[in-house]
Amino acid sequence: MTAARPRRIFVAGSTGATGRALMPMALALGVDVIPHLRPATAAGRSLPEQAAVFALDDAAALDAALESCTTVIQLIGTMRKRFSSGDTYESSDIATTRLLAEAARRGAVDHFVLLSSVGAGRPRGSYLQAKARAEQIVAESGIDATVLRPSSFDGEGHRPPPGMAFVTHLFGMDRFHPIAIEDLARTLLYLAFSGAARGCVLEGSSLWQQVAEANSFSAWPLSAPSVAKQ
Ligand SMILES: NC(=O)c1ccc[n+]([C@@H]2O[C@H](COP(=O)([O-])OP(=O)(O)OC[C@H]3O[C@@H](n4cnc5c(N)ncnc54)[C@H](OP(=O)(O)O)[C@@H]3O)[C@@H](O)[C@H]2O)c1
Repeated sequence: MTAARPRRIFVAGSTGATGRALMPMALALGVDVIPHLRPATAAGRSLPEQAAVFALDDAAALDAALESCTTVIQLIGTMRKRFSSGDTYESSDIATTRLLAEAARRGAVDHFVLLSSVGAGRPRGSYLQAKARAEQIVAESGIDATVLRPSSFDGEGHRPPPGMAFVTHLFGMDRFHPIAIEDLARTLLYLAFSGAARGCVLEGSSLWQQVAEANSFSAWPLSAPSVAKQ
């Protein structure tokens, strides 16, 4: 019974906006997380001892890091304005999802939580097409997956377009309602920790239902996980 295994969660994209909200929350709630960082990003930072620092195309390092993990949370993505740094939708959104899904399948990971985007179901434009491709890779991996398709983020440097929250609320467009990064981070942790919504693609009302469940969830470990130290 895989559901009985203590959850240990590999967080890809731990240094991004969502990851920066999720990591301290996980530690405060006692959820066992392994944050992944790229070597260049990790350089000069003080890191938690369980941090995993390597390039994701280092298959041996990725396999070793996932060996003790039950779950992957995939938060990696990029934006067109960062293409000049070398990251593209192909290399960040798609290729890293493929690397993670393949390694997860080789190892003992039984749950893959993917942060996608509203609109990925009917993708228009290269950003949403990359999101749809990442979703497809995870679906084809055969691992139980939970896909979140939120709209604009609010927090950690992200602001939705002015008036978006008001208009989406007024016209009942819950798929496009902005999401607070704190709510998103808590929901990701809840889904990964509890295993709720395995096999589900969450968008609009189904996503907001999980946000509400995450906010009322009270069975967090709340003490530091003992397995984090080797
Ligand atoms: N912003 C929105 O309103 C919105 C709405 C819906 C969905 N999303 C999606 O939600 C996800 C998370 O967004 P975010 O704003 O939290 O992310 P973010 O702040 O843009 O951070 C991106 C993260 O991905 C990592 N990354 C990028 N390319 C990588 C690679 N090749 N290998 C390893 N790590 C890589 C970055 O690492 P470094 O720190 O090393 O660069 C960083 O940790 C993205 O997929 C985004 O498309 C965003």
